[in-house]
Amino acid sequence: MRLPNMLDAAQRKAKANYIYENRTNRPIFKNKKYFIRTYGCQMNVHDSEEIKGLLETLGYSESENINKSDLIILNTCAIRENAHDKVFGFLGRLKHLKKSNPNLIISLCGCMAQEASVVTYIKEKHPYIDIVFGTHNISELPKMLEDYKGKQKINVDSKEGDVIEFDNLYKRDSNITAWVNIMYGCDKFCTYCIVPYTRGKQRSRKIKDILKEVNELKKAGYKEITLLGQNVNAYGKDLEEKLEFSTLLEQVSKTGIERIRFVTSHPWDFTDKMIDIIAKYDNIMPYIHLPVQSGSNRILKLMNRKYTREEYLNLFNKIKTKVNNVAITTDIIVGFPGETEEDFEETLNLVKECQFDGAFTFVFSARENTPASKMKDNLSLEEKNKRLQKLNKLINTYSKESNLKTLGTIQKVLVTSISEKDNKKVAGYTENMKLVNIDAPANTIGKIIDVKIKAAKSFSLDGIIEK
Ligand code: 5AD
Ligand code: SF4
Repeated sequence: MRLPNMLDAAQRKAKANYIYENRTNRPIFKNKKYFIRTYGCQMNVHDSEEIKGLLETLGYSESENINKSDLIILNTCAIRENAHDKVFGFLGRLKHLKKSNPNLIISLCGCMAQEASVVTYIKEKHPYIDIVFGTHNISELPKMLEDYKGKQKINVDSKEGDVIEFDNLYKRDSNITAWVNIMYGCDKFCTYCIVPYTRGKQRSRKIKDILKEVNELKKAGYKEITLLGQNVNAYGKDLEEKLEFSTLLEQVSKTGIERIRFVTSHPWDFTDKMIDIIAKYDNIMPYIHLPVQSGSNRILKLMNRKYTREEYLNLFNKIKTKVNNVAITTDIIVGFPGETEEDFEETLNLVKECQFDGAFTFVFSARENTPASKMKDNLSLEEKNKRLQKLNKLINTYSKESNLKTLGTIQKVLVTSISEKDNKKVAGYTENMKLVNIDAPANTIGKIIDVKIKAAKSFSLDGIIEK
């Protein structure tokens, strides 16, 4: 699946330097507008913040109106088949837009752009897509735009370069909460997953660069940061100076920023020391997203998850015992190739045992060239969907129960926005990541307030400000 590596180290460095030399207000980009649509995970959301930052330093400004844009960027996801379908559906619309505006530049980036078959398909069937760039080539976008002369340009390196520090070039979506990348890529190679191919091998950022960014965010008034990586617990394993995630967490905690979160945790790399650090520091939030994927040892082995059901439960219980008021959510895949009724029952039983605060559930989707895509899969989609529904029903009862437990309590909530449900209310998250719609004035946005919980639903809480 990997495309040939087209750049040597020196060329890569020269290209990366380009953005530093040419980063402000290029006349050719002045008064130009861009529109960006982001699909997929937080990593993509944060990459889009970086792309926006780059474009704005060049002179572009953001537009909400797709019809009035000079540049449209789709930052894509490849994790499941339906992610592709959404993008190609949208591209059909853009093709028509281009007919009425021939100067429009259409660009596709992100994980889909790292898939060789997608690149071939774009070359052959979608000539109206002007610029394609991969997850390792974001820094080269300014140069690609400047050099663009109407001929389709494709720049998707297979090989990840060194970690490039962007000197806070991000245009962040919020001025209250911020994503902070601590690593890129993943070395785990779960057999169903395309991420190690699209995002490459694990590369951790240096601790001093991460701390510098957190300190800058704190100084700028940010209340919460989320440390971001495909597998944050493996942080540092690739660095020369060997470091554990727990050390990073402790150092980040000592910056004094009010709230710290992190996603995503892999059970295999979760150490006791990490649990102790999470339990020890008040500004590390008691919320852990801990994907289990399946409750069956046979399937876990086929998935190459590197832990057993028993080991997962042991870790889960340790975290629950040691971290006060912790909420744990998970990811589960149903219908992995060869999953029997018994395997699925084991997943249901594990969910009953853990009573997760919430879960994201997915039907297995065969991804190009992953080992699982070659495994024998006899189960019909209909049966897989039935299993998904059964699982979701169970998950929802537990998330509702978990929410009901907060009734009448007072929760510390970081208010982040006006409520989407009711524009006379505000909304925010509890320490353990429960969404609350609050009867409180708009001037509470950006503050941590005490909220009395009045009602609990499956996916959110209602409360009023406690004075
Ligand atoms: N099919 C279905 N779900 C998948 N995920 C990752 N790859 C696949 C796939 N091929 C799910 C996993 C992961 C989450 C981000 O997406 O549950 O934790
Ligand atoms: Fe994919 Fe597994 Fe890496 Fe998560 S840990 S990104 S599921 S390979």
